[in-house]
Amino acid sequence: MSIHLLNRSTFGDPKNAGNLMPIEEAHALLNKWVPNERLRLHMKQVAAVMKAWAIEKEEADAQTALKWELAGLLHDADWEKYPDDHCRIIIEELERRNIDPEVIHCIASHGPRYFGVEPNNQMDKMIYAFDELSGFVHAAALIRPTRYEGLEVKSVLKRLKTPSFAAQVNRDDITDALSKIDVSLEDLIQFVIDHQKDVS
Ligand SMILES: [Fe+2]
Repeated sequence: MSIHLLNRSTFGDPKNAGNLMPIEEAHALLNKWVPNERLRLHMKQVAAVMKAWAIEKEEADAQTALKWELAGLLHDADWEKYPDDHCRIIIEELERRNIDPEVIHCIASHGPRYFGVEPNNQMDKMIYAFDELSGFVHAAALIRPTRYEGLEVKSVLKRLKTPSFAAQVNRDDITDALSKIDVSLEDLIQFVIDHQKDVS
């Protein structure tokens, strides 16, 4: 991924706190903006792990879980059509739709090195941690005849140490994201396997 600094630190309008969109509407946006099925699957997988994490680990209520899910589902929505303005376009779209600033900030901070926005809260930190790892786990599953069935954490760890495997996944981003949260890499990989294996 290339650098697309946003040169902004605040996103959305505080008066829109709590304004979300139905998940169906977010899926409709995704279907319109992202013709590439693989890329859509990536976003659905990140949405699934974000939602599951919110519910299982953060004791989120339904509204908060939807917030996490929306951020996951839309974080790369502009990547395919606007590769040179990745992140800026979806942020502006969500601002136009008066969406909760936390959702927008979460999307803006999903790649600090690329967009120049640091993760603030736990939702920001988790999307940063899940984004690359989710894609990596999926790559590790795809090369197996049984895919996710029987995929073990240790084999994912081994592939992470093999630079030529899924070389586009930046290992430094995963390490940096992990340094911001109190979760082990092993546990995070297991969580990703468990919660994205059935996403289609
Ligand atoms: Fe992503």
